Amino acid sequence: EGSETSRQQQQKMMNIAHRGASGHSPENTMAAFQKGFEMKADYIEMDVQMTKDGELVIIHDTTVDRTTDGTGNVGELTFEEMRQLDAGSWFHDNYAGEKVPSFVEVLDAFRGKTGILIEIKAPELYPGIEEKVAEALKERNMHQPNHQKIIIQSFNHESMKKSKELLPQVPHGVLAGRGWAKVTDEQLAEFASYADYFNPNMTIVTPELVDRVHKAGMMMFPYTSRTQEQADHLFQLNVDGIVTDFPEHVYYHPVHN
Ligand code: G3P
Ligand code: CA
Repeated sequence: EGSETSRQQQQKMMNIAHRGASGHSPENTMAAFQKGFEMKADYIEMDVQMTKDGELVIIHDTTVDRTTDGTGNVGELTFEEMRQLDAGSWFHDNYAGEKVPSFVEVLDAFRGKTGILIEIKAPELYPGIEEKVAEALKERNMHQPNHQKIIIQSFNHESMKKSKELLPQVPHGVLAGRGWAKVTDEQLAEFASYADYFNPNMTIVTPELVDRVHKAGMMMFPYTSRTQEQADHLFQLNVDGIVTDFPEHVYYHPVHN
């Protein structure tokens, strides 16, 4: 009963569709983002990289090998070459012909409809990627506060510092792998000087860490839940949002009274 009350009193748990609703459709494709939107995720999460000719594209790995019918490094293919690839068949025949989306294609399809959690993936491989992301957001007036829900995050914290300078009004997040299990309060304070989110691997989340991150003035969207049990566990830890392949695992508990 007590835990039910505290759940009801809690503010809404953000539901973040990881690489789109990637448990249901091929990750980082328009189909996966559309599915996340239809499932009423609060945010769709996506990985941004850059082609050889400087176009921003949405793909997770730094090679196209796993999620397309092609081969090679993202940064060594042109946008034209990238667009020839089939990014859906590896997941299921029903998705044959899905393409690697461009960043602006996703922005234009979903801005104003759902939140967008933008991960800049491996920015150390793509000099200038922060400027290109900032430019695309500014062109669409998506860099203003309260305009819509946009967050930029990366495992590369120097990249986030730089991006925050380019887009001071956009919330930023630092991603933290398992190696950050023993993050200190001093480190959290340093992150909080440019980041609004500390988004760790879910295996290092404890009630104490959630509390310390909140006290440092940041929120927490841990990654990546793939089962109902994992989502429920994170929910009970009082995180601010859950990054999941299955948006149906993250319920909305309405606040009563
Ligand atoms: O939201 C964070 C999560 O997307 C980071 O992990 O490897 O799926 O990009 P990864
Ligand atoms: Ca990601």
